[in-house]
Order: sequence, then structure tokens, then C-alpha cells
Amino acid sequence: MLLTSLICAIAASASGVLAVGVQPGQIKHLVTFGDSYTDVVATGDQGTAWPVYAAGYSKTALHPFARSGATCSNNITFRPFPPVFGDQLPLYLMEASNGTLHLPPAETIYTLWIGTNDLGVDSLITGSNNASVVDVTGCMVDWVRTLYASGARNFIMQNMIPLQLTILYSANSYPNRFWAVERNTSDWSVLMNEMVLAGNKLTELMLQAVVPTLPGAHIALFDSHSLIQDIYDHPALYLNGTAPLNVTGCWNSCIAPFGGGDLVCTVQNGTARDSYLWADELHPSEQADRIIAREIALTLEGNNSKWSTWLS
Ligand SMILES: *[C@@H]1O[C@H](CO)[C@@H](O)[C@H](O)[C@H]1NC(C)=O
Ligand SMILES: *[C@@H]1O[C@H](CO)[C@@H](O)[C@H](O)[C@H]1NC(C)=O
Ligand SMILES: *[C@@H]1O[C@H](CO)[C@@H](O)[C@H](O)[C@H]1NC(C)=O
Ligand SMILES: *[C@@H]1O[C@H](CO)[C@@H](O)[C@H](O)[C@H]1NC(C)=O
Ligand SMILES: *[C@@H]1O[C@H](CO)[C@@H](O)[C@H](O)[C@H]1NC(C)=O
Ligand SMILES: *[C@@H]1O[C@H](CO)[C@@H](O)[C@H](O)[C@H]1NC(C)=O
Ligand SMILES: *[C@@H]1O[C@H](CO)[C@@H](O)[C@H](O)[C@H]1NC(C)=O
Ligand SMILES: *[C@@H]1O[C@H](CO)[C@@H](O)[C@H](O)[C@H]1NC(C)=O
Repeated sequence: MLLTSLICAIAASASGVLAVGVQPGQIKHLVTFGDSYTDVVATGDQGTAWPVYAAGYSKTALHPFARSGATCSNNITFRPFPPVFGDQLPLYLMEASNGTLHLPPAETIYTLWIGTNDLGVDSLITGSNNASVVDVTGCMVDWVRTLYASGARNFIMQNMIPLQLTILYSANSYPNRFWAVERNTSDWSVLMNEMVLAGNKLTELMLQAVVPTLPGAHIALFDSHSLIQDIYDHPALYLNGTAPLNVTGCWNSCIAPFGGGDLVCTVQNGTARDSYLWADELHPSEQADRIIAREIALTLEGNNSKWSTWLS
């Protein structure tokens, strides 16, 4: 172990390459920011959220700040929920400075998974504000800068999933609990696909640009987009429930009358739920979240995940 580190150190210095990523055993604390995809109380999967699994798999202490309904900043994409800027970060910074949290920078990693609400209904896709995906992704990268300025050094940025594969934003959608107003579902899926692809590329490019300005930082980009697409394309590699595998529907499917009103729901129970990619019309299922957790755990353990790339 010691010898391996020594050889790596020599190899790194000999080739003039700076250390990339975190080392095995280094990370002891996981601090999470985001929306319902990451909230461990109001969980989007109606089960156990991925951070709880990731902390369990990697034997790290979890400090969860993500809140359901959040956008990156209400100054950009307003929704009446606690955003990353304006709520989650201020709470974290307060707790870190007043002694509630003791998080040594080298032993702590910070994650952000945001964008679903920013791009979604009552926001960009419905033209409900004057923001664009450029503002939203700029805000994501500002999260890294803000935490770095407060002393944080290790980061995992989770990019946006192919939201046009969720029932809410698919071309074959139906009126549901998230949107029961008539719309052109083809238009929505095309636009959502474009926004997510462009946004993810912007995040990647902006992160690459910010790396040289943050000495000593280790930043991984976690490709949620490709992972969810791979689950969609190859469900048998990931889903393991007792019902037929299903990546187009959800285990808690509710059809709304146009204009709103009583939902008509079809709900799967128990082990059947692990056959689904989606829990409801917007959220990945608990089994999808276990896969995400497994890969995030590998990343923060300093092990290779196929879905993570260390930029520094
Ligand atoms: C990395 O992965 C290997 C193989 O899955 C596992 O044996 C090892 O414990 C992991 N290392 C860490 C630091 O988690
Ligand atoms: C949001 O706007 C408020 C009011 O203008 C301002 O005080 C605050 O600093 C802004 N927050 C961010 C994160 O830009
Ligand atoms: C630190 O700040 C948090 C969040 O505002 C608060 O809940 C906690 O009581 C504060 N602790 C101390 C010791 O002031
Ligand atoms: C967008 O900006 C225009 C021009 O400043 C303003 O009139 C409009 O109210 C804004 N729309 C929203 C949803 O904020
Ligand atoms: C919905 O949008 C698609 C793609 O833009 C278009 O081809 C179709 O005609 C639209 N349907 C309706 C009913 O407007
Ligand atoms: C997937 O689940 C939905 C319920 O959300 C159901 O309507 C659909 O028939 C299922 N598809 C397959 C291929 O089983
Ligand atoms: C799941 O459980 C609920 C509540 O008990 C029941 O109404 C529903 O029919 C069950 N779903 C299936 C597919 O058996
Ligand atoms: C599916 O696999 C996960 C591990 O990824 C396991 O925790 C879960 O219990 C499995 N589900 C079923 C229904 O066997």
C-alpha cells in the first residue's frame, strides 16, 4: 500500500503530472446538495435515497443538504422551494463556521446534482422566467467556486439525466401529477433533450476552464446522463425486480384529468418496484438510485467508476 503510493508519487512527479482524484481511504465525509433526486427526507424514489446508500457503501458520514423542489438559485429560476444558493449553501456555511460541522477539507467530498427543476415545468420548458440553460449551468459551477472559497477541496458534479426519457418529458406522455395542462409532448421532449445535452456540455467545458483557477482541488464529473441512458438501453444489467423490466413506465403511475383533479394511479409493490427505472413520472427508482450510489461510492473511494472522470 505504502509502496504503491510511493511508486505512484514518483511516477507522478517524474512525468510532471499533478495528482488527479482522491486516494483510497482519504474521504470520510459526504456532503450532498441538490433537489428531490438527492433529498434523503422527501425522497424522489419514495424509498431510500442514493446518498444514504452511497455513505453506507463507502463507510462515510453523510451530511445531506439537498432539498426537494430545489433549483440552483431562485434568482435565476424561481420556484418556491429551498434552492442551493440562498438556502442549502448558507445553511452549510453557517454550520461549518459555527462548529456544528467538523469537516476536514482533505477528508470531505461535496456533491451537486441539480437542474431537473431549473429546466422543467414552471421554469425553462414552460418559459416561466427569463433564464436560460447558460445561467443554470453557470450557477452549478459557481457552487464549486463558492465551496472552494470556504475551504472545500473535493467535488463530484453530477450532470443532468436524459430528462426526455422520464414520463413527464417523453413524447409518449400523459397528463400527470406534475403537469396536467395540455401541451405538445413531442415539442417538450425535443426541447428537453436539447437543453440537457447543451447544458451538460456547458458544465463540462466550464468545469475544465475553472480547474486551473482552483489549485489543490479534485473535481470529478459524474456522467448521470450516460448512466441513466445505459440503464434505459440495457435494463437487464441493472434492474432486478420480480415484474417484467420496465424503463418507459413507472411503478407509481398516476393519470390526471386535463386541468387537474383526482389522479387514477397504478402502483406496484415490494420487489416488483426494482424492475422499474422510474419511480414516478419524474424520479428515478430506488434501484436506479442504488446503482448511482454504487458508482458515486466507487468514485469517492478513489476506485474507478466507468461513469466518473476526474478533471483534477
Ligand atoms: C475498490 O474496488 C475493489 C474491487 O471492487 C474493492 O475490493 C476495494 O475494496 C475497493 N477499494 C476501496 C478503497 O473501496
Ligand atoms: C439573490 O438576490 C438577492 C436580492 O436581490 C440578493 O441579496 C442575493 O445576494 C442574490 N443571491 C444570489 C445567490 O445571487
Ligand atoms: C449553528 O447554525 C445552525 C444553522 O443555523 C444552527 O441550527 C445551530 O444552532 C448553530 N449552532 C451554534 C452553536 O450556534
Ligand atoms: C422577463 O423580462 C421582461 C422584460 O424585462 C419582463 O417584462 C417580464 O416580466 C419578465 N418575465 C418573467 C417571467 O420574469
Ligand atoms: C407538436 O409538435 C410537433 C413537433 O414540433 C409537430 O410536428 C406537431 O405538429 C405538433 N402537434 C400539434 C398538435 O401541434
Ligand atoms: C411499463 O409500466 C407502465 C406503467 O407505468 C405500463 O403501462 C406499461 O405497459 C409497462 N410496459 C411494459 C413493457 O411492461
Ligand atoms: C399495491 O398495494 C396497493 C395497496 O395495498 C394495492 O392497492 C395495489 O393493488 C397493489 N398493487 C399491485 C400491482 O398489486
Ligand atoms: C436488487 O439489487 C440491489 C443491489 O443493487 C439489492 O439491494 C436489492 O434488494 C435487489 N432487489 C431485489 C428485488 O432483489
